[in-house]
Amino acid sequence: MKIKALNGFKDIVPGEVELWQKVENTARDIFSRFNFSEIRMPILEKTDLFARSIGEATDIVEKEMYTFVDKQITMRPEATASLLRAYIQHGLHVQKPIQRLFTIGPMFRHERPQKGRLRQFHQMDVEVLGTPNPRVDAELMAMGAMLLEELGISVSLEMNSLGCPVCRPGFRETLLAFIDERRDELCDDCKRRSKTNPLRVLDCKNPKCREQVEEAPSIQEHLCDDCDEHFASVQKGLQDLDVEYSLNKFMVRGLDYYTRTTFEFITGDLGAQAAVGAGGRYDGLVEKLGGPKIPGIGFALGMERLVLLLQQQEEVKIDSGQVDIFVAGLGEKASEFAFPLVHILRQNGLLTVMDHEGRSLKSQMKQANKVNSRFVLIIGENELEQGQAVLRNMANQEQQEITIQSNNNEMASSLLQRCQQ
Ligand code: HAM
Repeated sequence: MKIKALNGFKDIVPGEVELWQKVENTARDIFSRFNFSEIRMPILEKTDLFARSIGEATDIVEKEMYTFVDKQITMRPEATASLLRAYIQHGLHVQKPIQRLFTIGPMFRHERPQKGRLRQFHQMDVEVLGTPNPRVDAELMAMGAMLLEELGISVSLEMNSLGCPVCRPGFRETLLAFIDERRDELCDDCKRRSKTNPLRVLDCKNPKCREQVEEAPSIQEHLCDDCDEHFASVQKGLQDLDVEYSLNKFMVRGLDYYTRTTFEFITGDLGAQAAVGAGGRYDGLVEKLGGPKIPGIGFALGMERLVLLLQQQEEVKIDSGQVDIFVAGLGEKASEFAFPLVHILRQNGLLTVMDHEGRSLKSQMKQANKVNSRFVLIIGENELEQGQAVLRNMANQEQQEITIQSNNNEMASSLLQRCQQ
């Protein structure tokens, strides 16, 4: 019986991997334009890290984590908590008061797999630590928008403010009173959630619950003065940068660490999995994890979703590296001669392909066409004896003779010259 990958775990095979590289390379380019440095963390962390940051009563911590219960360790379900753990552990705030960090890698959540939702998925995650400045909130959203635009993915940006420990408790009470009047109409999940985290009732996907909360009070109207001013400045920043956005009072996010700004990049092209990226501010989190009182903000983009969107666009072209030269050795002697020559060409930077299966000239030319090689070097037994190989330019079919030299290096450099012309 064949062994298959686990449900919700996916191989990324050639043909698809090029799109992943495109997404990642574009992101790295944009992150560096905004002066972000890369950080890499381990996949396994202490379970408590996620319980403390994401929140005990969240779906992620309650139901979705891959935890080794006997060891109290968990495969990271997201990057923010691990990144902050590393930030605190290495005292990165001491080295530089404002850190701009990004990380790219796999995350793990035991969710019900469907299109755009996997159990092992990949995030490109960015975090800015050390500043409460609302301009940074706007700058980060603008960076996300710029990246998506460069990838040719159209999304809408939705934003909300979740207030802070000063104003949120008051809103929570107001919301609870509203929910209590409608409790009987809500789904079981919402009935339970209203006790632990009533804000989550606002983003329940159940149509009946949605109808019930349509008229719910908006947190945007219950912000304290500081949060209100912050929220207004973030919006001004977005306007200054010409970033389109809309306000969404129902967006509360599934992680408990957020304060003030939260946002999501939403697509209409992926069915239920509409968020291609999401994030927000978390001003109390570094302290909660045992670090100093340092504010932070960040977001993560889901790579599977970005790749799916690119696959849905017909015209995406992938530049797979073009082969410079295909060396066709015909017969054992010629192949033996070509073998080290190919190695030297590669040492000199040429993308070189050689067939090791002793195929006919016709079949090797076919192969060269298939890999879109710029040149083909034909070395047959006759050519070897006569000391001349043939170099064919595949674009114009022109052929030229190349002297076969006993010194491979000399032959390689004359080939290099011709291939670079
Ligand atoms: P999140 O909303 O849980 O936030 O995930 C961010 C993005 O990761 C989602 O918008 C989605 O594109 C992708 N994603 C999440 N779960 C899955 C899944 N099961 N399969 C495929 N893609 C998925 C966070 O993780 C926060 N740490 C973001 C953040 C960074 N907030 C502040 N800094």
